[in-house]
Amino acid sequence: MKIAILPGDGIGPEVTEQARRVLDVLSLPGLTLFEGDVGGIAYKRHGHPLPQETLDMARAADAVLFGAVGDPECDDLPREHRPEQAILGLRSELGLFANLRPAAGYPGLEDMSSLKPEVARGIDLLVVRELNGDVYFGDKGERDSDGGREGWDAMSYNEAEVRRIAHTGFLAAQKRRKRLTSVDKANVLETSRIWRETVIEVAAEYPDVELDHMYVDNAAMQMVRSPGQFDVILTGNLFGDILSDQASACVGSIGLLASASLGERQTEYGTFGLYEPIHGSAPDIAGQGKANPIAAILSLAMLLRHSLGRETEAGRIERAVSTVVASDVRGADLGGTASTGEIGDAVLRALNAL
Ligand code: NAI
Ligand code: MG
Repeated sequence: MKIAILPGDGIGPEVTEQARRVLDVLSLPGLTLFEGDVGGIAYKRHGHPLPQETLDMARAADAVLFGAVGDPECDDLPREHRPEQAILGLRSELGLFANLRPAAGYPGLEDMSSLKPEVARGIDLLVVRELNGDVYFGDKGERDSDGGREGWDAMSYNEAEVRRIAHTGFLAAQKRRKRLTSVDKANVLETSRIWRETVIEVAAEYPDVELDHMYVDNAAMQMVRSPGQFDVILTGNLFGDILSDQASACVGSIGLLASASLGERQTEYGTFGLYEPIHGSAPDIAGQGKANPIAAILSLAMLLRHSLGRETEAGRIERAVSTVVASDVRGADLGGTASTGEIGDAVLRALNAL
């Protein structure tokens, strides 16, 4: 079993270190860890945010544990050298088209949700976000216009792209409460019209899953009004990015939410994937020990489950995290004073106590 660890920039290395401590405690037999540079740090050291060596390391592994990329010192670089291109590059080069972002309320954390406690308690959803298409990957550029310089980004989805992510969504719904809400903007976007028609076609293969459709603006509203109505939310790259950050505020903090990015490649132990917190490099708190490592630790749990077939260990980590989140060990993002390392310590203690 091989895991490539790519800590990246800002709080990426700080939170990844805590996930790595958890991994060390599990002492999985036959596990080899590799570590590589990615993002701004990779640009500074190797002249590229996603060096070939890092990409090769990720390809050779069974799973990738990713921190975050993004560095204000790189803001003025041309787009192809910006740190964020590294994560986009990894997703496309590794064929990771399905991004799973679970968001569930924690008992004892309702006070930190942006929602009323009784509403926050009901949240238990999974955003299934398409990750290889949409406006993030379309042609883009700048041109002259009557109104001055004009930026443009092409948004597109073809049936094959929608079909494969729709299957991921329906399969996930079958393992949960068997409800799937497809989120689009089919009243104004052609991409969304194809999206909706294709999702309806795929739904015929999953008669046990109840499908409904929602426009993204309504979905954003429903998510804060009554998130408990959602089971699986299936959506495109842009809408999924926004809705999953919003879901994190419903749970309590962006520092709590993990994600798995999966493709079609199977390894000896499961599905190859890249696992990362949904948050970014948080330059505003980097280097201060204030980052919450829970999202990174839960990303490790998802890695063990999906890529290494280690359901038992994944469940143990999730139980330990629930204990810590319900305790008074809270980071600054949850109104407490615990440092990144202290939260990591608490998770290790909870693991040992299980
Ligand atoms: P961000 O997610 O880094 O931070 C948003 C806010 O949440 C900040 O106030 C930050 O302090 C807080 N926050 C984030 N993670 C936290 C944690 N674990 N514990 C406590 N507080 C936390 O998003 P932002 O500020 O928009 O972007 C910062 C940089 O990260 C940019 O360069 C952006 O492009 C990059 N980014 C990278 C991503 C990735 O690597 N996949 C994803 C999102 C943003
Ligand atoms: Mg985002």
